[in-house]
Amino acid sequence: MDNLAQRLRQYKPSVDVKPRIRAEGRLVRMVGLTLEAIGCDMPVGSYCNVETARGDFVEAEVVGFASERTFLMPVGMAEGLKPGGRVIPNDKALNIPVGPELLGRVLNGIGEPLDGRGPITTKDTTSLHGKIINPLARKPIRETLDVGIKAINALFTVGQGQRIGLFAGSGVGKSMLLGMMTRFTEADIIVVGLVGERGREVKEFIDEILGQEGMSRSVVVASPADDAPLMRLRAAMLTTSIAEYFRDQGKKVLLLMDSLTRFAQAQREIALAIGEPPATKGYPPSVFAKIPQLVERAGNGNEGTGGSITAFYTVLTEGDDQQDPIADATRAILDGHIVLSRRLAEEGHYPAIDVEASISRVMPQVVSEDHLKLAYSLKQIYALYQQNKDLISVGAYNAGSDAAIDQAIALMPRVKGFLQQNLKENVDIVTSYQQMNLALNNQLQAKGGES
Ligand SMILES: Nc1ncnc2c1ncn2[C@@H]1O[C@H](COP(=O)(O)OP(=O)(O)OP(=O)(O)O)[C@@H](O)[C@H]1O
Ligand SMILES: [Mg+2]
Repeated sequence: MDNLAQRLRQYKPSVDVKPRIRAEGRLVRMVGLTLEAIGCDMPVGSYCNVETARGDFVEAEVVGFASERTFLMPVGMAEGLKPGGRVIPNDKALNIPVGPELLGRVLNGIGEPLDGRGPITTKDTTSLHGKIINPLARKPIRETLDVGIKAINALFTVGQGQRIGLFAGSGVGKSMLLGMMTRFTEADIIVVGLVGERGREVKEFIDEILGQEGMSRSVVVASPADDAPLMRLRAAMLTTSIAEYFRDQGKKVLLLMDSLTRFAQAQREIALAIGEPPATKGYPPSVFAKIPQLVERAGNGNEGTGGSITAFYTVLTEGDDQQDPIADATRAILDGHIVLSRRLAEEGHYPAIDVEASISRVMPQVVSEDHLKLAYSLKQIYALYQQNKDLISVGAYNAGSDAAIDQAIALMPRVKGFLQQNLKENVDIVTSYQQMNLALNNQLQAKGGES
């Protein structure tokens, strides 16, 4: 795994040529990343090998057509392509190999190993596009999932099968928080998708965050920013397919995707390249269709199967703009969002969770009445303090003029202390509840956090 970064850069797709003479086409045009071929008889979504000047092949996917022209997009590097190059369908189905053999492995966007530990042979295969679950057959979210972060466990309790967004501008601590959850979450299997982020972080994530122990229950799919857009897109889909496979085996799966924004941007690159008009802030409509298609695949399985996929997706809010179209679209379809605040990060308050802006939509269904009440009262105290912060900090607030504000001022140092957590510290859900109670001066003398 030493030269993983190097391997990531040098990746070339394996070529499996099974010619079907009838459908063979010719390359006639290449603009940017889009290839145009004529004479192909291939449906959208199928794969082919395109001949290069060196005589080898580049793998490409059919992404669209216009009358007799077929639009293709290379999966890996598009180097050495030439006019008139042969376009040969390769019969590679969208089925991808899955099985327990994947545990501990690092794959690229098309499921090939990046870790230099030999080929992966599995018995089962699954579809890259997943299968649709009837919404009425899905098991409801009823149980908590301990993520080991006290602010989340206490205030935004996560349910098994919930899908949550982690929203923040760049460098506010999204990846670090995901890393903490990877180490602490009580899950059977962890599937991590590192999509379109820095290549350097892939190795760091594997060596430092997961470590040997974490890796034994994890599968990592990595497609860094310099991969072709199709590869990044497929990495996100592959990550989800692998999570689905383990869920259908009855496992409690944690899916982490860093980042959903890069997935959307990969789709934007592809859609614009084949001529789809941009709609919202340069994003074509197909982007807004792809996001729910991906995200809806996570969650609980059918009633009776037992498995679940609890998913965290990081969403980059450009310039800390919460109205970013991708942030907007994802906020509406996820079951909760955790917003990280740049102001808190600048104060050195980590994890920089913005208590006022974050929400877990399933929390009322998974925690006890007492827990919910306590969480609400902490949020109220926090919000009240923030509203009056300016007055308080310039000394314009007179103690004794409002009992609620007095109480907020008195409790705030402990509340702030409670919300911060060391990178190496794992706080379970019951302890999180007890510490929240303590921070609020034992407002409720209740016991136990879970319902
Ligand atoms: N819990 C934490 N404790 C201490 N420092 C932290 C913590 N979280 C983040 N940081 C600091 O913030 C920096 C950026 O964090 P991170 O890489 O997680 O941000 P990000 O939101 O993923 O950024 P990007 O959008 O660029 O990927 C870290 O390098 C670290 O210095
Ligand atoms: Mg990051």
